[in-house]
Amino acid sequence: LLPALVDRFGRSITYLRVSVTDRCDFRCVYCMSEHMSFLPRRELLTLEELDRICTAFVARGVRKLRITGGEPLVRKNIMWLFEALARHLQSGQLDELTLTTNGSQLKRFAKELKAASVERINVSLDTLQPDRFRAITRWGDIGTVMEGLDAADAAGLKVKINAVALKGTNEDEIGDLITFAHGRGYDLTLIETMPLGEIDGARHDQYLPLSIVRARLLDRWTLEDIPHQTGGPARYVRVRETGGRLGFITPMTHNFCESCNRVRLTCTGTLYMCLGQEDAVDLREPLRAGSSDAALHAAIDEAMLLKPKGHDFVIDRRAGRPAVARHMSVTGG
Ligand code: GTP
Ligand code: 5AD
Ligand code: SF4
Repeated sequence: LLPALVDRFGRSITYLRVSVTDRCDFRCVYCMSEHMSFLPRRELLTLEELDRICTAFVARGVRKLRITGGEPLVRKNIMWLFEALARHLQSGQLDELTLTTNGSQLKRFAKELKAASVERINVSLDTLQPDRFRAITRWGDIGTVMEGLDAADAAGLKVKINAVALKGTNEDEIGDLITFAHGRGYDLTLIETMPLGEIDGARHDQYLPLSIVRARLLDRWTLEDIPHQTGGPARYVRVRETGGRLGFITPMTHNFCESCNRVRLTCTGTLYMCLGQEDAVDLREPLRAGSSDAALHAAIDEAMLLKPKGHDFVIDRRAGRPAVARHMSVTGG
């Protein structure tokens, strides 16, 4: 039996997030620039390499795998990876195999995902208004996402909606998002925008602390703290009027790093130990050098020693530079 993963601060690592592509069919303003250069395909881990690394992590006690991107469902043959990884659910070594998606391809994939034992998916949706949706994603069509949500419902997938709270963009819509999500039986999670990657806009102008959102919501809703835990960073309340769950992800105003249980694999095989720091180890090189599983595990052990205590994001008006140069789409959220 291989030893479980524990970092220098005593945190158990049981959650691996895996970005399978840096590409996306949208260009959300807080995530990417309008003109992005994407990685050449040979740089990407193959699906077999992704399977091998995920499997190594499962052997080390990882119980939750989340496939992300970019947009994971634009990766060619991606269902092969889900189907391959599902064997770890069947063997009881994995609790959850899931994904975070922009929803644009769900109409095509919802049924297959469910068939591959995916039970629950997170769908990013920051607005319900078609013109706003187009402005945030730069060209996305909200209709495709709505069709995707219908397909997810029909397939029996549980859905959580992720919405990044943006000043002057969707801050007047949070109530509508609650009504929509809870009306459809979905959880809703609000996220503070983080300073990752060069984007075209001025990030400090869009940043909206969730403490403000929460205070405003109290005018209209009753929020009751509940202990709901998914293994992710959100803290949940129940909205009494809807009966639904509302999560807050507050990297900027309330640091949750102390209870961090996750690490991240990029689509090129770099293992980042924190979303907001540079500490990383390359797993692709040993893989492509034909190394044994033992060498792969040694590289993972080496990485574990690098996991930092936490991020130190600040949205700095003067610096205007992101805290971390790589885009969210590279590290996968
Ligand atoms: P659940 O399993 O539903 O709890 O999902 P999750 O929150 O783990 O995953 P999701 O992809 O929905 O993540 C939502 C967002 O939370 C991510 O895109 C990030 O913005 C943020 N997030 C998740 N983990 C971390 C983390 O370790 N640090 C920081 N700063 N943000 C995180
Ligand atoms: N800050 C916070 N959340 C972000 N996301 C993308 N970029 C950022 C950012 N800079 C969100 C997406 C998606 C999730 C994976 O990450 O909206 O829901
Ligand atoms: Fe694509 Fe998600 Fe980034 Fe939007 S936030 S550009 S949907 S990866």
